[in-house]
Amino acid sequence: MSKYIVEDTRKVTTHRLIEMKRKGEKIAMLTAYDFTMASIIDAAGVDIILVGDSASNVMAGNITTLPITLDQMIYHAKSVVRAVKRALVVVDMPFGTYQVNADEAVKNAIRIMKETHADALKLEGGEEILPSVRKILDAGIPIMGHLGLTPQSINKFGTYGVRAKDEAEAAKLSHDAHLLQDAGCFSLVLEKIPATLGEKVAQSLEVPIIGIGAGGGVYGQVLVCTDMLGMTADFTPRFLRRYADLNTVISDAVGNYIKDVKASDFPNEKEQY
Ligand code: KIV
Repeated sequence: MSKYIVEDTRKVTTHRLIEMKRKGEKIAMLTAYDFTMASIIDAAGVDIILVGDSASNVMAGNITTLPITLDQMIYHAKSVVRAVKRALVVVDMPFGTYQVNADEAVKNAIRIMKETHADALKLEGGEEILPSVRKILDAGIPIMGHLGLTPQSINKFGTYGVRAKDEAEAAKLSHDAHLLQDAGCFSLVLEKIPATLGEKVAQSLEVPIIGIGAGGGVYGQVLVCTDMLGMTADFTPRFLRRYADLNTVISDAVGNYIKDVKASDFPNEKEQY
């Protein structure tokens, strides 16, 4: 069992995140997509687990997050929820499930909540998706917003480069952040934007801002679990800190297993019936 288990084992709620921000306690968030990883991450004491649509990349091998379906996100989310005792579980609404109109958005949002038992949803975008955000919130479903680099819009952006470097885009991001907060979102993710902008937006809002590549002036951080564990060896953005080198650990373990099997060294006498 992990030595990092937190003493406060109460379930994290959206209300508690706002309390944490008020007390100046930073929020630690990671993604997870399956039962085993979610059990480990939750037991280690992370505050929020995001069932990210990055599952499309790191679980399914797609180039973008666009192909992942509602059914596939529900499958991942159910697996994670079964494992989690403490963390708040947030599920990404996948591309195409909330952009058409607010009625369709709330129908899909309700389906995710009913079938997965997750705690909240995350949607990418600002003013353009506000009617969907409002309708989902009206149904009693908590929403985390997501602005800056929003990977579901990669075909519009054309690059995964830093967003909101110019004044116009920074002003729109700030405007959108306030709209989402005023609509009732409990938190926002800001992805890959200048640190100065991240801090400015974080300080101008009541709700906690979670950053990924948004600098240290925000109230929490999120990373994709497979990236921070060093499993995705080729992904090396500046914002990523690797806390392990599981790529090498797994590769060495598999290499040793193959060697032992080929040498008839596995199983030994104690490993058989
Ligand atoms: O899908 C995801 O992993 C995300 C995080 C990068 C915030 O949205």
